[in-house]
Formats: sequence, C-alpha cells, structure tokens
Amino acid sequence: MRFHLEASLRLSGDAAKAEGDLAEFFENQAADLLKKGAPEGMGARVSGWRIAEDRLEITIESDRYVRAHDALLRLRKPLADLLGRKHRLGIRGIDVSRFEIQIESDRPITHRIPYVRESKYEDGRLTLLLGVEDPKRGWTWMLENRIPDRIVNLLEEKLQSYGGKAEHWELLWESPPREIKFNGDPTQEMLKRGWIKHGSARGQWIHGPQSTHLFRTFEKIVLEEILEPLGYREMIFPKLDTWDVWKRSGHAQGVYPEIYYVCPPKSRDPAFWEEVIDYYKVTHEVPLDLIKEKIDYPIGGMCYAQCPTFWVFLQGATLPNDELPIRVFDRSGTSHRYESGGIHGIERVDEFHRIEIVWLGTKEQVMEEAERLKERYRRIFEEILELRWRMAWVTPWFMAQEGKTGLAEMEGAGTIDYEALLPYSGNWIEFQNLSVNGEKYPKGFSVKAQSGETLWSGCSGVGLERWTSVFLGQKGLDPENWPDEFRKRFGEMPKGFRFL
Ligand code: SER
Ligand code: ZN
Repeated sequence: MRFHLEASLRLSGDAAKAEGDLAEFFENQAADLLKKGAPEGMGARVSGWRIAEDRLEITIESDRYVRAHDALLRLRKPLADLLGRKHRLGIRGIDVSRFEIQIESDRPITHRIPYVRESKYEDGRLTLLLGVEDPKRGWTWMLENRIPDRIVNLLEEKLQSYGGKAEHWELLWESPPREIKFNGDPTQEMLKRGWIKHGSARGQWIHGPQSTHLFRTFEKIVLEEILEPLGYREMIFPKLDTWDVWKRSGHAQGVYPEIYYVCPPKSRDPAFWEEVIDYYKVTHEVPLDLIKEKIDYPIGGMCYAQCPTFWVFLQGATLPNDELPIRVFDRSGTSHRYESGGIHGIERVDEFHRIEIVWLGTKEQVMEEAERLKERYRRIFEEILELRWRMAWVTPWFMAQEGKTGLAEMEGAGTIDYEALLPYSGNWIEFQNLSVNGEKYPKGFSVKAQSGETLWSGCSGVGLERWTSVFLGQKGLDPENWPDEFRKRFGEMPKGFRFL
C-alpha cells in the first residue's frame, strides 16, 4: 500500500523569511516524526517542499505504517509552533492538490465510492484519486475525520472478502443418531393436509389451527423450561427499525439487500392522495408510479434481527449494579427478510416468527447465562423433542448481518448455531442460535453500569418456523410418532378446515 500526497498549508503571510528554519525542520525533526511508531525503515517521508509566497507546499510519500495524511497532520502542530513563534505566521488551512492511494488488488472497482474521484486498475494494483465531495467539507475536514482511513479499511475489507473467505463453521457437538420416523418434506406434507397455505406475499405462509398450535406449544416449552425458571421478563420490542437503530447496531453496514423498507406518506392530507384514490376507483388498478411519487424516503425497515430495537429502551442509561444481569424476551411480532431465490417451504421465508431472548450484565454474568441457556436447550432437544441436532461455532450473527466473515475479535464472544437434520433432503438446517455479543450493543447504544465495569450482552433467537420444520421433518405429522414428553404438552390436535 502506497500513499502520495501533495498538500499546501495556507499561511497568514509570506513565508520566504522562514526558509532556513523550515529546511532545518524538514531535514531533522520532521524526518524523525514521520518514522515514529513504524517498523525499521518504514513510515512516511517528505519528498519535496517549497514556499510559494503565503503557501507552504509539501509532498509526502508513505506506506501503510504512517499514512501520508497522518504524516501531514503530525507535521501541522510543530510547523505551527515554528512559524508562529519565530515568524508570526499562522496556518489557516490545508489544501490538497493530489492525494493518491495505491493498493494491491485482484480486480478493479467499478462502482462509485464517496470521496474517490477516479480509480484505475493496472498490473494488480488499484490506484484511487481522492477528491473533495462537498465544498463545505473540504480537505481539512476530510483529513481530520479520517476519510482516507475509512476508504482504506473499506478496500481492505472488500478485497479480503472477495474470492470467498468463507463464513466460519466449526462443529462443537453432535447428538447421537436416532431412529428416523419420517423422511418427507414437512412443508409439502403440511400443505397436503391443509395445515398451512401460501400467503399473498412472497415467502409468507398462513398457519392454520394445527401448525399454530404447534408454534404455541414450542413457545410454552421455551417459557416453562427456560424463561420462567431463569427469571426472564417479557417485553414488547418495536417492529420497525429506524436508521438510527441500525447505525448503532451495525446493520447499517450491510443489511441493505435484505431489508423490507418502510416509507411514510409525504402528506397525511386526503387531498394529496385524491388522485390515487380516484385512479383506483375508476381503473381498479393501484397506481404504483403515482404512489412512488407520494411516499417519502424510507425511515428504516421492518424488524430484521429483533433485538436491536430493545436497546433504545436502555439507550444512554446507567444501570444500578443490583439490576444486573437483565434478562428479557420478546415474542410480539414477525421478522422480515427479503430472501433471494432461496425461498423454500417454511424453512426459508420472508416473514417469520421468533422468540428473541436478550440478557446483559458484566462479561462474567453474560458468559454464565449463556451456559445456563445452553444446558436448558440441550434438555429440550434431547428429552422433550428428541431431535437429531448439533451445535456449531460460526461467524457471529452480528458480523454476518454486516456482511462480514470470520470470527469476533472479543475473546469469548461469538455465535453458536443450532442445526438439525432434515432426513428428506439430508441437509442440516439452522433452527436457532445463541450468541455472546460482547460489548457491541451496550457500547453502540451507550449503556453503562454503575460500577463502571464494561457491559456485555447476549441474545438467542428461537425460530418457530425452523423448529417446526425440524420437528415435523424428523417426526412427521402424526402425533402417535411424536415423543411422549412433547405429546403431553401438545394436548389435543385442534380441528382444521375442510374445503370443498
Ligand atoms: N438477533 C439474532 C439474530 O438475528 C438472534 O435472533 O440472529
Ligand atoms: Zn438478537
């Protein structure tokens, strides 16, 4: 990685008289300053400088260790001292006539990146020419706000993930094989028996009384076996996530292709909508182009990860020590994801139901709670549902949803995916997860502990459609093949509908 920067400092007067001092400064002090902190022989250097009346022009070359723009900022203060003390000259601002970043890459960049005026790809090397985007945010602002560093980080992230640095997956534990009771496709079987029907939207299902009762039984099991004994309190989390929530949760980094966007009307005035209303009445068609003009920018999207909106409840708060750990859950509504072609049965859907379990406290409390939950889940899957299931250590959900791969950097933080076998396809599918999210959420939403200790949090999403797929996929739809412990809790099968 190479940086080339041609900058000039705007001074309050002619600097000719300072020439000798500047020469001495660049020769000695500056040279040392620009190597500080870099490995031997690395860092930045001033490759040229000259005085042009009331401007001091400086050219800097650097590697990744002391980036050229950092080098310039490092020089600013000592230069201001030198010019001010001895020559009564002030530095008024920074202008840049050329700023180039070169980075090794296996491909060109074809889309627009903010503050990048031009990009060139040659011989495995990408050269970006940076430029001012908005006159109010000139070079001084860009350098002080670390825009060049953000561009470098973006490129490093992109170039690394290209060529498929795969998502992490590592088996932690697998249950012994069990007798297979069924090997059909549970969705097809439910359709055949009239338990479910397609909703009108893509990836959406309507659950009849039978599968609804199944969902409610799963919920009851989670309540009785986990949430009540461990002291969880039920809350209602909002189901519309604003950009502000997603900036804090990190989703703003990458969730765009999968969001169901939410747009409010530009006006609540019926007169503003009269044209639309009349158009429909006359044509019996909904005038989509006209509606597009009358709705505003999206304010966010429909619930995606379920826990982020909870954090607004705690945002900016300091929690008394005796409130910790906090244990809550939400089951008040659906989550929505615009899934690609991959929609399949009730296993991959655009609209789904989940119990979201959230806990927070000190690192120790959060890790201990994760163990307690894991033990409770194990009992449910082994002794009540009698599943063939396994646990895998995977790329944390909060990274995956930001479009990242790999593992969390915080020791102890990460996600366990719970997967179960679908005998009809031979595939293992994820039916829930459990994560220690480290300090990400308390930090993102500025939540503090009275003790001053860093807060951590965890969350676990129990996917009801997935539990259904897995349970029915392994046991079939006939209650006589279901484990006794489950049947006891399920009770009577509700009567479904008949159609002529
Ligand atoms: N919030 C977590 C997720 O979206 C758990 O549900 O995966
Ligand atoms: Zn969550």
